[in-house]
Amino acid sequence: MYSARLSFPADFDGWRVACRTALALGVPPEEMSFMIGEETAGLFAEPLPPAPSDAPQPTVPKAFPGLTAKLVCHADGDRFVFAYRLLWRLQRERTLLEIASDPDILRATEMEKAVRRDSHKMKAFVRFREVEDGKGARHFVAWFEPFHHVVEHTAPFFARRFAGMVWTILTPERSVHWDGSDLSFLPGATRDMRPDGDDMEALWLTYYASIFNPARLKVNAMRAEMPKKYWANMPETALIKPLIAGAEAASRRMIETAPTLPSLRHERQMERAKTGQPDMAAKKAETRLTSLAQARDAASHCRACPLWEPATQTVFGRGPENAPVIFVGEQPGDQEDIAGEPFIGPAGKVFDAALAEAGIDRSLAYVTNAVKHFKFAPRGKRRIHAKPNGGEIRACRWWLDLERELIRPKLIVALGATAASAVLGKTVTIRDARSRLIDLDDGTRALVTVHPSYILRLPDKVSQDEERRAFHADMALVRQTVPELAL
Ligand code: URA
Repeated sequence: MYSARLSFPADFDGWRVACRTALALGVPPEEMSFMIGEETAGLFAEPLPPAPSDAPQPTVPKAFPGLTAKLVCHADGDRFVFAYRLLWRLQRERTLLEIASDPDILRATEMEKAVRRDSHKMKAFVRFREVEDGKGARHFVAWFEPFHHVVEHTAPFFARRFAGMVWTILTPERSVHWDGSDLSFLPGATRDMRPDGDDMEALWLTYYASIFNPARLKVNAMRAEMPKKYWANMPETALIKPLIAGAEAASRRMIETAPTLPSLRHERQMERAKTGQPDMAAKKAETRLTSLAQARDAASHCRACPLWEPATQTVFGRGPENAPVIFVGEQPGDQEDIAGEPFIGPAGKVFDAALAEAGIDRSLAYVTNAVKHFKFAPRGKRRIHAKPNGGEIRACRWWLDLERELIRPKLIVALGATAASAVLGKTVTIRDARSRLIDLDDGTRALVTVHPSYILRLPDKVSQDEERRAFHADMALVRQTVPELAL
């Protein structure tokens, strides 16, 4: 009997290396065992000796690595030996994976399905809460209890989705931390380490209440999808009872009110939004908005164009009211839409790097967008950025003008063509307007440069590096024009 030691409960790479050795030595699955971490081997098990150096590499069908990467995440204590048995059999039965009625294949299919489901639940039910880290930085923490060993397998999804945040997901067996650029895996946590509620909770509640469709309520299906086990970690579950209770009446109301036409006032508003004319009701409200906090609050209810509806929230500008510079981007992206902050995703990283190189302290500047809702086209599970049209930019210009009015900066930096036309009030090309200080009628100055995501979209490293240098030079000009921004 042989045994191999693995580092953690879903150590796929460790399993792969051990299996290659075991296969090369001709060890049958019945004589193989695996230990995880500090576990002790059985009395008669001895460590695998090294494989002969000339041992051939096993060949497997294309689908096998993907399948076994999931099998090793299953909670079944026999998973590593079972996966090795499949590998062993495949060396003799090349078409094994295609035999759906084979008991091992049936079992593997069920195990893979269970792991996929558990990973999906983790993606859907993890709820971050903001915690104080004692250093003034923002840190989001979530507690989750998976059925299977899916933390490593699912963590890259969170790293992509919340790339601009620092977050930790605690689970009883293993935890994962993202520091903004790298994932690291930590020991498990206990329930008492669960973070308490915060402002994010209110956001989830609003979001869940707004997407809840009473006419499509299927209580049993909902319970099956969202097992009670997860409810304790999900703020919105507090809404489930009242929403179910009110669903029948709400659904009746929906049916009764469905065929009515929008009110004339609403139609006029929509028309104005389309043509870019100012909304007088909103204009009146403007006179009462005398601080950024009030403006942000009012913008959170903005319905001036249709973009509010599919977006998660309005992403208003961030920064101090006395900022000497406003940076204006195009519109929030996927990550900004979720976090509610501008420029925290991949484009934000390019932007931050350029500011750092120019010695600019971002926290002294005000950062915003020409359009304050994320416009996207759904593609499968992804939301693909879509360019805002002229009507949407004009409808949102009102907010940008208000931000300018309240902050009265020395300099406004337009990042990309959309921002440039919103700032200058006319269409310009980046080529013509770039890198020079433009005097505006209100006494401020404007500087037009490229949008950071333009750099990311360039096809090769040479042109990316060249554009990055030019972008950094523009940021150096910002710093030279407004020395108060210095780090
Ligand atoms: N792109 C933008 O223009 N703004 C953001 O906030 C993020 C990406």
